[in-house]
Amino acid sequence: MKQWYKNRKKDHFYLKAKKNDLISRAYYKIEEIDKRFHLITKKNTKVLDIGCCPGGWVQYVFNKSDSHNVVGIDILQIEHNFDKNFVFYKYDLNEYENIRKEFLAKKYFFDLIISDIAPNTSGNQFLDQTNSYNLSLLSVNFINEFLCKGGSFLVKNFQGEDTEKLFKHIKSLFNKCSYVKPEASDKSSKEIYILGLEKK
Ligand SMILES: C[S@@+](CC[C@H](N)C(=O)[O-])C[C@H]1O[C@@H](n2cnc3c(N)ncnc32)[C@H](O)[C@@H]1O
Repeated sequence: MKQWYKNRKKDHFYLKAKKNDLISRAYYKIEEIDKRFHLITKKNTKVLDIGCCPGGWVQYVFNKSDSHNVVGIDILQIEHNFDKNFVFYKYDLNEYENIRKEFLAKKYFFDLIISDIAPNTSGNQFLDQTNSYNLSLLSVNFINEFLCKGGSFLVKNFQGEDTEKLFKHIKSLFNKCSYVKPEASDKSSKEIYILGLEKK
């Protein structure tokens, strides 16, 4: 956890997360979105967290209730030890077909899919946006086979020329769809979240 705090922008949410011994400041993003849109409302919610490291969003889900079940995926190994209701897969999302096969074999089915996945930024805005779009699209792949009817989906995207296309695609799969920019998201950052509610 200490490693994660190194080299982070030391703003209000960073300091608050550190003071409250949270795994990452990202905790406040999912907290705000959940409070506004009621993503987790029942016991035993089955959650898929894509790009889950270092684990702030997982921590938030379990702080709401230990009864939830979370499956996390990341290209990095997660360091934090969560309880037995957490299963972690170390995968590059580009290996989607392998993940899909494993998930089908496990008969996974989720009420909520959240993806905070983000590429390493290069400083080249166009390249970063393209990489972010590709990772967001790979996250969308999970909706069809692994999200239950009526379920919710949240994905991060670095705003660019493909964002509207991504939004329209997600909108076609849900009854409700909106852009969300939480307070804890750096104002200067291009990141935005797309939220789909009530999968058709
Ligand atoms: C902003 S962080 C997520 C923070 C997390 N939501 C939290 O609360 O701690 C984005 C994550 O996406 C992961 N990621 C980036 N590219 C990936 C890929 N191709 N496959 C899987 N994970 C990837 C990174 O390793 C990183 O952990």
